[in-house]
Order: sequence, then structure tokens, then C-alpha cells
Amino acid sequence: MRQWIAFLLFFSGLACAHSSSSPPLLGNIPGRKTTSLDGAWHVIIDPYETGLHARFYENATSETPGAGPIEYNFEASETLNVPGDWNTQKEKLFFYEGPVWYERRFSYKRHENRRVFVYFGAANYFARVYLNGKPLGEHEGGFTPFNFEVTSTLAEGENFLVVEVNNARRADAVPALNTDWWNYGGLTRDVLLVEVPEAFVRDYSVQLATGAQGEIAGWVQVDGSTRPQTVTVEIPVAGIRKTFSPDAGGRVEFHFPAKLDLWSPENPKLYDVVISCGADTVHDSIGFRTIEVKGTQIVINGKPTFLRGISMHEEAPERGGRAYSTQDAQTLFDWAKELGCNLVRLTHYPHNENEVRLADRLGLLLWSEIPVYWNIAWQNPATLANAESQLRDMIARDHNRAAVIFWSLSNETPLDPDRLIFLQKLAEDARQLDSTRLITSAMNHVTEAGPNKRILDDPLGESLDVLGLNEYLGWYGGHPEDADRRQWESKYAKPLIVSEFGGEAPYGKHGDASVPWTEEYQANLYVHQLAMIRKIPGFAGVCPWVLMDFHSPRRLLPGIQDYYNRKGLVSNTGQHKLAFNVLQKFYREMKDSASK
Ligand code: GCU
Repeated sequence: MRQWIAFLLFFSGLACAHSSSSPPLLGNIPGRKTTSLDGAWHVIIDPYETGLHARFYENATSETPGAGPIEYNFEASETLNVPGDWNTQKEKLFFYEGPVWYERRFSYKRHENRRVFVYFGAANYFARVYLNGKPLGEHEGGFTPFNFEVTSTLAEGENFLVVEVNNARRADAVPALNTDWWNYGGLTRDVLLVEVPEAFVRDYSVQLATGAQGEIAGWVQVDGSTRPQTVTVEIPVAGIRKTFSPDAGGRVEFHFPAKLDLWSPENPKLYDVVISCGADTVHDSIGFRTIEVKGTQIVINGKPTFLRGISMHEEAPERGGRAYSTQDAQTLFDWAKELGCNLVRLTHYPHNENEVRLADRLGLLLWSEIPVYWNIAWQNPATLANAESQLRDMIARDHNRAAVIFWSLSNETPLDPDRLIFLQKLAEDARQLDSTRLITSAMNHVTEAGPNKRILDDPLGESLDVLGLNEYLGWYGGHPEDADRRQWESKYAKPLIVSEFGGEAPYGKHGDASVPWTEEYQANLYVHQLAMIRKIPGFAGVCPWVLMDFHSPRRLLPGIQDYYNRKGLVSNTGQHKLAFNVLQKFYREMKDSASK
């Protein structure tokens, strides 16, 4: 029976294309001619999805004789800002889960020999896209970019784009029905028109060869019927200029020596890399570094590096809601830097590109994860295909970012044979898609070996380069002081990161350290946890849960949680809790001892 499931899963993963959008497009890169469609969009909140049958996407304004009355009018409807979730823009939509129709009119001047794509940074969760009444396609997955070519659909002058976004949760979706974060719906990231020459640079990878600090390895994929003869890769300040001839499929692969200043948290050096082919030229800021595992150590540019991390949701500081801007990212990362972090675990889904590019500039290492969270439909081939395409799109968007060192496949998934087959397939995919980064997952299943000993022996560990361990001793069981006696062991001789620990305390709630929900209790828990964790064999880093309090539909304690998970070290309005100082002190000590 299991073999049959593995066989079915494997072939269906290949068979059913999950999203009918075009292949990944590097839409948001410097040098690309883009037109932003951000701003106010008219919306129709459509709980019963009437708009599909009533063809809202035709945006009809005059009745067709005999066709019955038109019962919608975008022009007269309310608006929502894009990018942005709808839950925090309108009080009546705070709990809303379902379809919302977005409409945006724009005028466009077409240009000869140019192709145009409409690019979405993300839409949570399921989107149907129409241009000028014609269906362009659909996309599933709330946290990765997608695009559609509109060269032939675009009109000279007035156009209208209609997008149905539906954030209804489903048992076969990724994530599934249950999450400890708010299911913010909407066009949550930028919407752009991207204009390119007929033949253009669709994608590229320019990185150091695995483990080789003096060798660049990469490829460029050209798209377009009229293939240009040459592709040029340049790093002007390093005096590098290489020319290649694409193969019949428009692809060039290259390897060449290069003497470069390496990117690291201490020295986040970025180079302007220029890739051109025919009439198309793109610029990108790329850092060059190597990332490897040596025994239980994580090694960056040949140097064993202890990871001083923090876990973080993509929640906007102060205003709440889905974060999307560089300013949101700056505020969150400033707190991480203030803590003394060199790593941020972006949980539990791919965060916006503004964060990832800012981390490249600030020298913050990143753990990036797809929302295979808790329990999902492990036996469902469509669910696997969905997870695979989210993984593919996460890697496609950020594979040139030096900051990203980990691709995480899942968080706290159950010990189940079907789950193992599912995640082993994802590990295989990730290595095929990107052999230069480390594969990890956050696990929380351990074996009890006596009252105080726990062994991390989840079979998933076999397929990972780095182990993530989530443990909540002192919060979801036991007392903070129990950590003093707790011993941990791992079945695997691999680096181990404590990817989560923590406890809740609303800012300003004070009391004795033995009283849960007080800042003193949270701080005390950190003291005992950090002392315990540094004794774990193979301990390579830690990412406490969590940087900032965040909205969650599962946190209902009145006067304390009020729909917030309060495990933040910073409140949702930016106040630092006592535990913030405990972690800051620990990281200062770790940094000092590492530099000795
Ligand atoms: C889990 C989970 C988080 C959750 C946290 C908590 O470990 O990974 O998403 O928010 O615990 O319970 O606060």
C-alpha cells in the first residue's frame, strides 16, 4: 500500500501543474521596466462567490437585453489598498474568510517588439485573474509570486484588471485548516506590469560554486523566440565580463574563476551584476558567500559560525496586518540587530522580497520556509504538487540572495509514514532546484529516554542537512527551572538549531517570576532555556519564538492575548519586554566568545 502511495504521489506531483501562471519571472529586479498597479482598487466582498456565475470579471456596465439585471458595479463599490490585507483595512473584514473581487482600471501605451507580463508579489490564498474580461489564469498559494503574459490581451489605452482573491481555508491546501497566525487575505504584495524585449532574461543564478570561494558557477535562461546570439555576464567593479552563446533552449551555464570580497553578516558586500542579452539588460545586487556543514558546525566562507537567531512572522509593526514594505522590514530587522542577531527565521511561509533584499544589505542570514505546517493532506497528490510549486517559487525568487542560507520544508509535522514520503520528496526537489544551500525543517517529536533526557530521532532528520528543534519546556509543560536538569541528544551527527522555544507575556504585565504570563516569568524562562540549550551536543544556533507579538485566531485569553500570540520579545507596538535583554546579553556573550 505505502509503495502505491509513493508511486502515486511521485507521478501526480509531476502530473498536475498547480498554478496555471507563467514560469517564474524576476519581475522585481532593478533595470526592469515596470508599471506599478498599487494603490486603491475597487472591491466587491462576495461571500457566496456569486461573481463567478455573474461574471463580475466582465465588468459589464450596461445591461444586455434579455440577460437580466446587472447586480454589481465596481465603480460604485468601496476600495481597498494594494498591497495590503483586507482584514486590517476594514473592521468588518477582520474575521472575513472568502472571496473578494478586486478591480483596477489603467491605461497602457503599447510598444513595438515588447512583451508585457502582469506580476503579483503574492495573493492570499487562491486567485483568479482576468484582463479586459478574459481569463488569464489562476494561482494557489498565499506567499509566492506569480505572473501572466498579457502581451496579446493588453489593449492600447484603457484596460481593466479583475482579480478574485479567496482566502478560504481548505483541508487539502498548504497550509491546511489550522494555523497559529492570522489568515490575512488579499493582494498582500505589489502588483506590477513588467515590460521586456521580445527576447529577455527570464531567470539566472550567479553564485559561488559550492564550497569554492574563488569560483563562480551559474546559468542564465533566456526567453523569446528570436534567440540573441550572446549572453553577457558582468561584474564591473571586479573587472569581470564574460560572454556565452545560449543553447537551443536559450540556456547558458558557466563556471569561471573570480576574486571577490565575500558576503558575510560582518561584511554584507553586494556587487552590481549585469546580465544582458540582445535588447535586454538587468542589474542585480548580489553577494557571494559559501555555506556548508562540517560535522555539527555551520560554516560560512570557511568559518564556523554560531547562529544567533530570532523567529519572526510577516506582521507589520505598530499597524498590524501583513507586512510588505521595506519600512516594515527595517523596523523588524532593527530589533533583530539590536538583539545581536545574525540570523532571522522567516516563519512559516516565504516573506516578502523587500525583507529578503534588506537582509542582503544588512548582513542578516535567513531561514526561509514553505507553509507545510502542522498537519496537511499528506496522501493527496494535489497537496504535494501545491507544496512543490510553493517550494519551487520560493527558491526561484530568492536563489540569488546571499542572505538566504536555509530552505525549510516544514514546521512541526506529525510522525506519519505518508508525511515522511511527502517531505522526503520535497527534500529531493529542493536539492535539485538549488544545490548551494542547506535543507532543514523544524521538528518537535522527540523520544523520552528517562525523566530528563530527550532524543531528537525524527526519521525526517535523515533527509536534512541541518536539524531544527522546537521545544517549549517551561511553557507547554513543566517549569522553567526543569531546563536545568533536561538533557538533549540527537540521533544525527548534524548541526542542530533550536528553532523555537518561548513563553507568553503581554508587555507591562509584571509579577513574581513564578507567575505565568508575567514578563518576569518569560525572562526567567529565557535564562534557564539559554543555559540548557548551550549544552546540547551539536548545538549550532537558536531562533527563539518570537521577535514580536502577532495576531493569531487561536489566542483568545481576554485582557492578555485578545487575538495576539504574546510570545514576542517586543510587543506589537514596539515595547521591549524584560526577556529581550536576557537574549541580548546571551548573544553579546556568544559573540564575544566567538571572536576570542
Ligand atoms: C509552535 C508553532 C508556532 C506557534 C508556537 C506557539 O511551535 O511552530 O507557529 O506560534 O508554537 O505555540 O506559540
